[in-house]
Amino acid sequence: MKNTQVLLAARPDGEVKETDFKIASSVIDEDIAEGQLLVKISYISLDPALRGWMNAGTTYIKGVEIGTVMRAFSCGEVIASKHPDHQVGSFVSGLLGAQEYAVSDGTGLSKLDVSSGKLSWHLGILGMPGMTAYFGLLEKAKPQAGETVFISGAAGIVGSTVGQIAKIKGCTVIGTAGSQEKCDYLTGECGFDAAINYKEEDVADALKTHCPDGVHVFYDNVGGPILDTALGHLAKGARVVICGAISQYNKKKIYGPSNYMKIVTARGYITGIIVFDYIKDYPKAVADISGWLESGQMNTKEDTVKGIEQFPSALKMLFSGKNFGKLILEI
Ligand SMILES: NC(=O)c1ccc[n+]([C@@H]2O[C@H](COP(=O)([O-])OP(=O)(O)OC[C@H]3O[C@@H](n4cnc5c(N)ncnc54)[C@H](OP(=O)(O)O)[C@@H]3O)[C@@H](O)[C@H]2O)c1
Repeated sequence: MKNTQVLLAARPDGEVKETDFKIASSVIDEDIAEGQLLVKISYISLDPALRGWMNAGTTYIKGVEIGTVMRAFSCGEVIASKHPDHQVGSFVSGLLGAQEYAVSDGTGLSKLDVSSGKLSWHLGILGMPGMTAYFGLLEKAKPQAGETVFISGAAGIVGSTVGQIAKIKGCTVIGTAGSQEKCDYLTGECGFDAAINYKEEDVADALKTHCPDGVHVFYDNVGGPILDTALGHLAKGARVVICGAISQYNKKKIYGPSNYMKIVTARGYITGIIVFDYIKDYPKAVADISGWLESGQMNTKEDTVKGIEQFPSALKMLFSGKNFGKLILEI
């Protein structure tokens, strides 16, 4: 059976280029071994993390080797199985890669309940980004009702999920996004109290207006100057969660915060999150978020691009803000 795959062809020097990938074709052996399963992939997740995985070396995970299938979360249907835990016709997600079919021994796979919602949600709000939002906010920042939560990159899947959970927990929620349309989505469908278009507005001035008593929780997806500005507006006892720094991923030298002494006067803390540390607790988060989606307390938005050949151009959308919602590649 023909298997179209996206291979890493070169390590990017700065911004991701389409030539950093090669679309290749291989033949997948349907005669799988004992203990294996064969998955027909329906959706591939395009996440900012992929940019880091294209680099050489190891951070929290090893960089993808040149010439191999690009690492990516994907989900699909089990079409053959010699694995005791996975039946034909069931659905799974995991790091199955940017390809049409994947053979797996089951390691790291999640079995999906597709009785409600959309299958692709398991790559977004019910998948890795949703888990990042849930644990980064609730376990790392521990927001209290009445506190003010400020989120950068708020119209993305992580940011919009953080903000909606914070609203459910009784917080005042403010976020930044890169267009008026995204800001309207935040204050409309997502129920944020205010949204700041960081490309048009002065974020420091806007924070003075929207957060007169300071920021109790800053959930940072962007890094760079926005991190510095937020540090300048911390309330006493503030918690800063560094989730990501998408504004810096294509840069050779990362912009560091100069306002970091504000954490001292705030008697606060800065902490980081790696979502994989919470894998054993994912079922609780999936149950909570599913409940909020079903009750209408929460919603999610997807931006779907069709065709595996579009993988390189679609990945670039993340770094220019062209995506509006969780970016998904439909196979
Ligand atoms: N630590 C973890 O375990 C973990 C897990 C998952 C994700 N993350 C991180 O969480 C962050 C958000 O991920 P996501 O999946 O929700 O991505 P996403 O928001 O759907 O996509 C990226 C968005 O970031 C914004 N952006 C891009 N370049 C920017 C820049 N230079 N300055 C400001 N904003 C910029 C764009 O929106 P605008 O139009 O608003 O600019 C873009 O749409 C990323 O930093 C990611 O690496 C961390």
